[in-house]
Amino acid sequence: MDITIKSPSMNWKEAANGIKISNPGLTTAGYTMRFAYIPSGKTMSLAGNQRVIVNLLNGSLARPALEEKDCITVVQNRFITAEKDSLVFLCIDENPDTKDMKSAISGLDLKWIEPAHGCFRTDPKLEVGNYKVNLWYLIPNKNGGIHNHADNQDHNEGVQFIEFHTQLRGKGCMVKYKEQKESTEYERFELNPGQSHPLFSKVENNIVKYPWHAYVASETGALFLVFEEIVNNLQK
Ligand SMILES: [Fe+2]
Repeated sequence: MDITIKSPSMNWKEAANGIKISNPGLTTAGYTMRFAYIPSGKTMSLAGNQRVIVNLLNGSLARPALEEKDCITVVQNRFITAEKDSLVFLCIDENPDTKDMKSAISGLDLKWIEPAHGCFRTDPKLEVGNYKVNLWYLIPNKNGGIHNHADNQDHNEGVQFIEFHTQLRGKGCMVKYKEQKESTEYERFELNPGQSHPLFSKVENNIVKYPWHAYVASETGALFLVFEEIVNNLQK
């Protein structure tokens, strides 16, 4: 598994049993976020008593049992055991009452940019192994834009990727549309803090295809993570 860190302000820190933890963490909106690499059969114990969102990016976890590209919130059982070599992204909720969703960023050298009115994202993306990760904040009731990544994936210069989102603060929905207009909505998946949506991309002729979709913030506004797994060896 490629776990090379390409973000200049971040490094792996060795822990016991071959476990690696990215350092420094990214702190914003009451969360501290870190990548962790856990070799097969090894167990990482989480310090403290905070709620932790565990996002499995690659590999397989035995405890908590977790599918790749899904997440779970850990509160009481604070041990993570890898079934296969695993790359996880941890969001430690140090201040669940945080109201300021788009707050200052510390730890890593990132800044907020506003690529479209009311849509903010962190820049540059974090890069570890095949993953690119960033945070988005959308103002209340904002539709982040209906797209299908077909033109082709303008922010990744044609590289194919599998995308998914994890809610951190506020609420939102992953919405699917038949066409590139709001009136053709046919499905929405509500996202509360600590939730990801089921994957909705599929591979056709070596291209990752998406339905028309948009992230839509609720009346609270929304802070969420966007994960992009770059895929090089696509199976038809
Ligand atoms: Fe998308």
